[in-house]
Amino acid sequence: EKGNYDHFMLKEINEQPGVIRNIISKYFNNYEINLNPSLIKSINNSSRIYILAAGTSMHAGLVGKRLLEQLTNKPVEVHIASEFAYYRPILDTNPFFILISQSGETADLRACLTYLRSNKYKTLTITNVITSTLAREADYALEIYAGPEIAVASTKAYIAQISVLAILAYELSAKDFDLKLELSKVAQAIENFLADTENLQALVSKYFKKEHAFYIGRGIDYATALEAALKLKEISYIHTEGFAAGELKHGTIALIEDGTPVIALISDETINLNTRSNLHEVKSRGAIPIIVTLESLKQKGDDIILDDVHPLLTPLVMVVPTQLISYYAALNLGFDIDKPRNLAKSVTVE
Ligand code: M6R
Repeated sequence: EKGNYDHFMLKEINEQPGVIRNIISKYFNNYEINLNPSLIKSINNSSRIYILAAGTSMHAGLVGKRLLEQLTNKPVEVHIASEFAYYRPILDTNPFFILISQSGETADLRACLTYLRSNKYKTLTITNVITSTLAREADYALEIYAGPEIAVASTKAYIAQISVLAILAYELSAKDFDLKLELSKVAQAIENFLADTENLQALVSKYFKKEHAFYIGRGIDYATALEAALKLKEISYIHTEGFAAGELKHGTIALIEDGTPVIALISDETINLNTRSNLHEVKSRGAIPIIVTLESLKQKGDDIILDDVHPLLTPLVMVVPTQLISYYAALNLGFDIDKPRNLAKSVTVE
């Protein structure tokens, strides 16, 4: 089942361009989008969207918040499911809830859904398993069509969740760009990057043996930094954190030692120079600076360069090198990549 790959995780990372193309074919009918009109109406009628999820799916939710807010102007809040289940924020008068879950079985989300249903709030589950409990019990369900994800570390499901959130946000918007085309450019950009990862592998072999590592980013790159850090610690057991790049100097910089890898994610012109200057600060304290950026923002000496894509879709390409950094770091350290210690694919206890 792993085909030519040594691990499911590597196979699933490489499936990502195909997953995006599959999602396009499932959701676009030429230029019409196949989404239940009653779902669209229900979201349009709401005053605020609440996204609930755990782990990687919560990180996809952070990207979803940006897509929905930018394209619909509706306020969106993202909450960790296990927190929302018992400590609820003050809810808007007419809330709409989006639950994101690869498995559709996460207990923390089931606890949220029990509360939401008993209060008759409208709910949508975005999931890879359309027959799952969360899909069956919500008012609406959208499938992400990633195909079975076997590795415990989620990769292609994250890409698929964001792609479906983009389609949903777009359907709710004025549609003033061609999302179908932009998503297919993302698939191509990921494919181009995956075609040659030797440079990335060499970087990982050289630097990712330390006790700690940090990802930094601003804006939407901060969301990617959180996901990247989760993925690295989950399978390589290197203690990794994702930080808002500007926060480093407010404390974390104290942790920087000689040789600590600090990976800066830069996908936005507005913050390009600020994040670079934050990276410079850690470099002068001994860190190994690594830059992941886009073709249009690159400077001489940058480490990992990705093709440009639509500004709202950059998280889909920026995350891919971070998935591979985790994969190769765990591989070099000799750990069980597809089944990391202490973890299950689906967390069915609260
Ligand atoms: O099935 P779900 O998407 O609800 O699972 C949520 C998390 O348990 C999951 O994303 C977890 O964080 C992954 N192992 C991360 O790679």
